[in-house]
Amino acid sequence: MCGIVGYVGSKNGIEAVFNGLIRLEYRGYDSVGVAFKDKNKIKTVKSHGRIKKNDVVPGMPNLEEKLKEDEKFKFNSNIVIGHTRWATHGAPSEKNAHPHVSMKGNFAIVHNGIIENYLTLKNELINKGYKFESETDSEVLAHLIEYFYENDILSAVKKALTKLEGAYSFLVLSEAEDVIVGAKKGSPLCLGLGEKEFIISSDESPFIDRTKKVIYINDGELILIEKNKYNIINFEGLNVEREIEEVPYDLEAITKGGYDHFMLKEIHEQPTTIKNAFISRIDHLDTMLRDNFPKLPRNINRVIYLACGTSLCAGKVGMYITEKYAKIPSRAEYASEFIYRDPVIFEKDICIALSQSGETADTKEALKIVKEKNAYIAGLVNVVGSQIARIAGKGMYLHAGPEIGVASTKAFTSQVVAINMFNMLLIDDIKYREKLIDELKKLPDLAEQIIRGTEPKIKVIAPEISKFSDFLYLGRDINYPVALEGALKMKEIAYLHAEGYSSGEMKHGPIALIDKNLLTVCILTGEKEIYKKTLNNLLEIKARSGRVFVLTDDVQAIKDHLSDEDYIIEVPKTLPQLSPIINVIPLQLLAYYTAKHLKREIDKPRNLAKSVTVE
Ligand code: G6P
Repeated sequence: MCGIVGYVGSKNGIEAVFNGLIRLEYRGYDSVGVAFKDKNKIKTVKSHGRIKKNDVVPGMPNLEEKLKEDEKFKFNSNIVIGHTRWATHGAPSEKNAHPHVSMKGNFAIVHNGIIENYLTLKNELINKGYKFESETDSEVLAHLIEYFYENDILSAVKKALTKLEGAYSFLVLSEAEDVIVGAKKGSPLCLGLGEKEFIISSDESPFIDRTKKVIYINDGELILIEKNKYNIINFEGLNVEREIEEVPYDLEAITKGGYDHFMLKEIHEQPTTIKNAFISRIDHLDTMLRDNFPKLPRNINRVIYLACGTSLCAGKVGMYITEKYAKIPSRAEYASEFIYRDPVIFEKDICIALSQSGETADTKEALKIVKEKNAYIAGLVNVVGSQIARIAGKGMYLHAGPEIGVASTKAFTSQVVAINMFNMLLIDDIKYREKLIDELKKLPDLAEQIIRGTEPKIKVIAPEISKFSDFLYLGRDINYPVALEGALKMKEIAYLHAEGYSSGEMKHGPIALIDKNLLTVCILTGEKEIYKKTLNNLLEIKARSGRVFVLTDDVQAIKDHLSDEDYIIEVPKTLPQLSPIINVIPLQLLAYYTAKHLKREIDKPRNLAKSVTVE
């Protein structure tokens, strides 16, 4: 996700911001830029690509060379802001890179977060004569501040804040004043207090080598930073006293947000990433149909989900949703199989490519095949501007932020949200939509609740779990793909043999495996009939003295069937079509803590790659 950094002080601010941006690289970015005061004029230098020139092949864009390109430029300024951009609105490009400058060039801003009502604000500003240079949501901020400006930057920012909806932290540079103004609501922001200098940034990494003294800005607060002082004010205009704290961790711990691994950090990000996948869209379903899925055919023949790995597990969830609720025949296919069997595709088929990275070779090739056959194609992709996103040309971005852990977690839950959003467009039933939207809104809290409720328990049992050599993950109906995904996580990071199976199919083979070394992980939630049938399968295992780990939304119904040797995890109830989002979280944690106990290389498991760009 984007990173912001600003400098006010008596040293070389460009160097400080440049180095700060390098420290923020771990957040993921596709473009970068700085703005600074040069003889009382605001100057910006932006680049698509990397920060350092050594990180790219000669001739590729990078910020370092662009900064040095300008002969007059002395590589020095005392007031500087900078940004690493992870594209959300608008493709990765120099034009969309931050800082964004207001129309008259009096203000520059860097922003992290999403301004949800940016389209409304943009239209209002266009009507007032403002011209936009980028496709970003952030640019509205620069123009809005200029519009409200009457010789006082702080009041202009305060007025702009009353117009903004969404989550953000941002910094503003003003041509007329030697200050930086920052504001925070939702996205992180902290101030490092150095020797005759202040560095404000998304986290402590840009200043940790210069100072350990930090002030954390809270939601609903503004900060005015001048050369020798700073002032924190809340959105109501009252001064705020804030204690100076000591940064308690080292650089490595900061980039992982204090977590031991990126994977754990990403698991914990899910309440936010789930929300990001729907929040700016649910109130504009008609616009979404027009903008994200233009010319979606009527009388659809089939919906085919194409993907690999975890994304395929999400695609299989999609298959259940499309058939059951949209009543359209659907399938989910291994992209790698699809490519080689000369698939029969009809014009009224819709093919959805699912991919976190947007670069997976098999998925990309499968998409090209259906494109050639003139089917309707779209992508549900996390990385903006990636190849799959470009080939698809339409669809939805997940807005989950960079996923660094090789084993995918937050991308899966965001994909299931996106699949639900897409299917809402296929279901012409206002009641269905209303119910789904209500339940979607509850999901971030449910995700928080499930993490908080199950993590301590799973941590404790992980040493016992790690003694099993084999795992059978069982689920029925929409829980079957969750079983597949749970097993995949265990294989990927704990290197333990785990199989995902449809629970009804279990007695046609895997039942022969049941012994004391095999743990059956059973997902037992949802509709009564499905619950009942899956419970019967579970009892078949218990009857053979098998050990079970049960995930259930109805503890009462199962409790009496289990012994002290079994494990039970309670998950909150939600709609069946949203339940994979909740049910998968304890399974991610189970794999994580088992792998941790076994001292595996969790973020970079052996033999695996984050992005498989070869077929
Ligand atoms: C690799 C990764 C998996 C991922 C799969 C598909 O195998 O290790 O975590 O699920 O690729 O990647 P995609 O980026 O297309 O979702």
